[in-house]
Amino acid sequence: MRLYLCNFTTLSEPQKQMILAWRNHENVKAYMYNTNDISEAEHFAFIESLETRTDRRYFLVQHEGVDIGVIDFNDISATSATLGLYANPKLDQKGIGSLLMQSIVEYAFKRLKVQILKAEVFEENAKAKALYEKFGFCEKGRKMVNEKEVICMELANEHQ
Ligand SMILES: CC(C)(COP(=O)(O)OP(=O)(O)OC[C@H]1O[C@@H](n2cnc3c(N)ncnc32)[C@H](O)[C@@H]1OP(=O)(O)O)[C@@H](O)C(=O)NCCC(=O)NCCS
Repeated sequence: MRLYLCNFTTLSEPQKQMILAWRNHENVKAYMYNTNDISEAEHFAFIESLETRTDRRYFLVQHEGVDIGVIDFNDISATSATLGLYANPKLDQKGIGSLLMQSIVEYAFKRLKVQILKAEVFEENAKAKALYEKFGFCEKGRKMVNEKEVICMELANEHQ
């Protein structure tokens, strides 16, 4: 099973365009905190900003040569990071979420070497919630974002 991570800061122009289309897809943006359409200028500026940010990293994930989705880490500290992910909305194949999560868990604990991996998910997002639970994440609290309930979950390095 070959998983390859391409840092957003190394993407080609067509790869950036492809990811912008994914991010603005109905099935993806509905589950993000920022549900607005992102403009090309905004997207390119965001990717450029990542070159100087040490607290966040974004990757395009490829599996056996296929672009399967995006994973990201925010609020990276010496001890923890908060994950994000979305699958390529044009792929209609089962198990993409699990491949993305596998790359997230491996990168967080082996490369970032954090002890705690955090996730925040809208309560209504059954797929993502099921995916996090499958990987051992436990609920730690709840909060409201955009007037919707969000579950705050965590996975400790020793529990994966
Ligand atoms: C979250 C996401 C990456 C999951 O990817 P996916 O390819 O759909 O994942 P899977 O098909 O492997 O499904 C994940 C699990 O949820 C289960 N599932 C699917 N629909 C479900 C539902 N309605 N209720 C409960 N579980 C469900 C699947 O059976 C699977 O579990 P399994 O592997 O044990 O069978 C994808 O749906 C996505 O990109 N969503 C939009 C962005 C998003 O929500 N990101 C997360 C923000 S917190």
